[in-house]
Amino acid sequence: MEDKKKVIFSGAQPSGKLSIGNYIGALKNWVDLQNDYDCYYCVVDMHAITVRQEPAELRRRTLETLAIYMACGIDPEKVTLFVQSHVPAHAELSWVLGCYTMFGELSRMTQFKEKSRKYENNINAGLFTYPVLMAADILLYNADLVPVGVDQTQHIELARNIAQRFNQVYSPTFVVPEGYVTKAGAKIMSLQDPEKKMSKSDPNPNANVNILDSRDDIIRKFKRAVTDSEACIKYDPARPGIANLMSIYSVFTGKSFEEIEREFDGVGYGDFKLAVGEACADTLAPIQERFNQLIADKDYLDSVMKNGAEKAARTAYRTLSKVYKKVGFLPYVR
Ligand code: TYM
Repeated sequence: MEDKKKVIFSGAQPSGKLSIGNYIGALKNWVDLQNDYDCYYCVVDMHAITVRQEPAELRRRTLETLAIYMACGIDPEKVTLFVQSHVPAHAELSWVLGCYTMFGELSRMTQFKEKSRKYENNINAGLFTYPVLMAADILLYNADLVPVGVDQTQHIELARNIAQRFNQVYSPTFVVPEGYVTKAGAKIMSLQDPEKKMSKSDPNPNANVNILDSRDDIIRKFKRAVTDSEACIKYDPARPGIANLMSIYSVFTGKSFEEIEREFDGVGYGDFKLAVGEACADTLAPIQERFNQLIADKDYLDSVMKNGAEKAARTAYRTLSKVYKKVGFLPYVR
């Protein structure tokens, strides 16, 4: 019988060490969704080169990112797990979709504006057309849902617009995808500047906790987390430092904000931060153990990538050939 499960696509860039922001905002949800959906999870290495990367480092991080996905619980038997550059259809569809994306739309992307400020010596065309490649990722698999953190929602809105435009110019071709953002942890903030998103490319190592950080580092970083001077643990979005730590603690312990407020009633920030650090380290310890086993087994990871790319390519080329036909490319008779 044909598999009628809804389709999910998501990915993360191997552009730095994956943080607990990536874990909470994305990976954890990917794991939760893998039993009920037909999931495509991708390491988006082509997106990573929009910012200059050291080649050997990019190769190492791409493999590590794949192993982290699996260590977090992504099961390559259940999902299609692959590396973006292994499926050329992503680049091919991206070119076509670029011709249906307006310069003005891309100019309005806040991430482009932010990154242009951050990398002012390398405002390359790839950085500008980045969201088109992201739309191609999603539309190739006709994804219904795209689980992401809140920072990616503008890109998903653009992917929807591109899909709708293409469908209108030709005939229904793409599923118009929906973003899937969970309330808890949609945006984990920097531990050093809680007004700013926790980012894997933050130059201050104390700002983010990485999935592979040692227990001591995790606890030290939480101890140094910037809070405020109110000395009470109560959830209030106007107090971003405490709100962020409470969100993180809530995700790692499953406790609600009310429960956390009761647990830490009258307790000082020092003890609270230690508790958050311990809860985080306890959750990450088994993930790190699995990661160490996986990363030592290169042959296994190679086979996962190969199977994933083959499976992804079958779906991707079905979509691409439909698109090529609709736009009027002459079939290539072999
Ligand atoms: P990337 O690599 O920056 O992040 C991967 C995922 O982690 C989420 N995330 C966060 N969530 C909560 N709090 C944070 N501090 C935080 N930081 C990151 C991101 O929202 C994302 O879900 N363009 C994407 C990668 C991509 C993609 C796609 C995603 C390429 N193609 C197609 C979905 C579908 C990116 O740079 O994510």
